[in-house]
Amino acid sequence: MLVSGGGTNLQALLDAFHDSPLVQIARVISSRSDAGALDRARRGNVPAVVLRKPSDAAELLAALHEIELVVLAGYLQLVPAAVVRQFRGRMINIHPALLPDFGGRGMYGHHVHEAVLASGARESGATVHLVDEEFDRGAIIGQERVPVLPGDTPDTLAARVLEAEHRLLPRVVLDLTRRL
Ligand code: GRF
Repeated sequence: MLVSGGGTNLQALLDAFHDSPLVQIARVISSRSDAGALDRARRGNVPAVVLRKPSDAAELLAALHEIELVVLAGYLQLVPAAVVRQFRGRMINIHPALLPDFGGRGMYGHHVHEAVLASGARESGATVHLVDEEFDRGAIIGQERVPVLPGDTPDTLAARVLEAEHRLLPRVVLDLTRRL
């Protein structure tokens, strides 16, 4: 799992698969040494790595040694092209909006929810997509929709979308694992 932030999606996977014979969270790889996700990894007895230089393909490939499926959640770095090539079709990312809208460079965290609210959209949601050489552009493999409610703020919308993420990501990971 590739992370940069608090790790609630990591927690959702740890909780969903803590005694699964099919899915094992083998390693947590962070682009930041202060990511809250590292504490969750420690509590879950999952080995963790902090990247010295996230743009270094060789370092990331070494950290991904023997990994079958790579899951990005809140990972704020562009994955080097050589790593994307190595894991083509088995590297996924979760994004807090209904792609292809509200994605791309700079569209992360509250920026996404502010843009959704500013657009007047009546729905938002979570998207899981394959990772390619660009932010948030790969093929969509799962989505869950949530309503945008009157009076929503970026925080209230983000909270509703995050709940949808925690339902969607374990479902997609289990489905993909069965097909690997
Ligand atoms: C999630 O909203 C995810 O969609 C986005 O970054 C956030 C990460 O949350 N890419 P967490 O670190 O899993 O709590």
